[in-house]
Amino acid sequence: MNVRTVATEPFTDQKPGTSGLRKKVAVFQAPTYLENFVQAVFDTVGVPAGATLALGGDGRYLNREAIQVILRMAAANGFGRVLVGQGGILSTPAASCVIRKYGTHGGLILSASHNPGGPEGDFGIKYNTANGGPAPEKVTDAIFARSKALTSYRILDAADIDLDRPGVQRIGEMVVEVIDPVADYAELMESLFDFAAIRELIAGGFGVCFDAMHAVTGPYAKEIIERRLGAPAGTVINGVPLPDFGAGHPDPNLTYAHELVEKMYDLDAPDLGAASDGDGDRNMILGRGFFVTPSDSLAVIAANARLAPGYAKGIAGIARSMPTSAAADRVARKLGVPCFETPTGWKFFGNLMDAGKVTLCGEESFGTGSDHLREKDGLWAVLFWLNILAKRRQSVEQVVQDHWAVFGRNVYSRHDYENLPTDVANAIIGQVRAACATLPGQAFGNYTVKFCDDFAYTDPIDGSVSTGQGLRIVFTDGSRIVFRLSGTGTEGATLRLYLEAFDVDPARQRGDAQLLLEDLILIADQISGLKAKSGRERPTVIT
Ligand code: G1P
Ligand code: ZN
Repeated sequence: MNVRTVATEPFTDQKPGTSGLRKKVAVFQAPTYLENFVQAVFDTVGVPAGATLALGGDGRYLNREAIQVILRMAAANGFGRVLVGQGGILSTPAASCVIRKYGTHGGLILSASHNPGGPEGDFGIKYNTANGGPAPEKVTDAIFARSKALTSYRILDAADIDLDRPGVQRIGEMVVEVIDPVADYAELMESLFDFAAIRELIAGGFGVCFDAMHAVTGPYAKEIIERRLGAPAGTVINGVPLPDFGAGHPDPNLTYAHELVEKMYDLDAPDLGAASDGDGDRNMILGRGFFVTPSDSLAVIAANARLAPGYAKGIAGIARSMPTSAAADRVARKLGVPCFETPTGWKFFGNLMDAGKVTLCGEESFGTGSDHLREKDGLWAVLFWLNILAKRRQSVEQVVQDHWAVFGRNVYSRHDYENLPTDVANAIIGQVRAACATLPGQAFGNYTVKFCDDFAYTDPIDGSVSTGQGLRIVFTDGSRIVFRLSGTGTEGATLRLYLEAFDVDPARQRGDAQLLLEDLILIADQISGLKAKSGRERPTVIT
């Protein structure tokens, strides 16, 4: 076997974003682009002799080809073993599970999450560390620095591995073990939730529809929901992963999961509707004609955590990203546990979970998870809901209404303005930033600004500081407007506007969020000049 050291020119744009390096497929197809990044990762994290690597992806276009390249590079860089999901498949949560269970020297996950796939779509790659979580900023910064200085990469000349054949194969000295991508994950889920109670619920006629959106969770949901929990065949829709996700946009929200949404608002809707994204870490929860915001979902899970065997002892604390609503904070207060507010992105939760400070974490962007892994976990959230419903024997809507009656409702919505010219997005942010100093004390209708800042976070565990994490305008009653630019897009800029109003009035709690937030939407526009500057009358996506 021949290890080659190939001379290469560094790229200047390999900076990992909110969740790894994401680019158009064509960018990744450029000669040595993938190789350079993988070498920068290996150089940065080091490869202890004989170390094991976990490897897999969400099955999108380029997944298999990239895996073959990475396997040859892993062999040339001194890995002793790679655990790769059969067919090149590992959902993001399953990869986190494999890294933790087998104590690997981290893993490489190939995914651009909820971004569309196919030759015209996006591809991505991220390194997760040995705790199973996304590499923290100091590691991704070091990877970026290394990528800009790279002059060569190492690769072994070898034939392709048969990714569909389970068991052991070899590349040179290195063992490649093709593993069942579902088994370890399914076993972990069975250890956390009351499968017997859920089976009984489903056997009693409780209807479920899970939309895998032709992305990675199809095989996971079929094994767990249909086989192990006994739901009828067909419960999982769009369950076959396709390289282009069936030309869809595998993002579980009200806009992109429209097939599921239509079913759930139909007369004969099932009792629970759920969807997951490209790589399986996001989730959307729906009841009959009822949408559960991800912020509420986190709060409901926290308030009912003890109903699930894996959480029967109670939770240590909760963490949520800054733009996520404060619904979870109210539950934490009642439970007498801490609630942490972190910047956007799952990587900020890792230290808190490793230190045992929090059990549950969540983001408004359809991400929920716990310390069972170090990634958010789509199916886990669905199973948690099923467990709660099996114990409470109420409808999804009733569970949420009861929750609001106890805790009040944090009325919430996110408005995304996608694909704006970068200078336009910067100008809008610039106007808000400029206004920040003069806003406190100003009244807008019923709202008075308490403070305005650019969110910064000091990690309580390692003291690292992250600045520039989003502009917050917080009102005296706790209501908020947040402006932030996306760090995961690959085209133009995406501006996110987050709106939150707290409501204790039970009569108003049932109302439509967009109507209840009307005043805040107008105030946001008044302060930012969003409509005039962007020329957009309405957001691209409302969640
Ligand atoms: C988005 C979400 C964020 C999530 C990330 C990865 O990032 O807003 O909460 O962690 O995707 O799934 P953004 O595009 O806003 O930077
Ligand atoms: Zn994802």
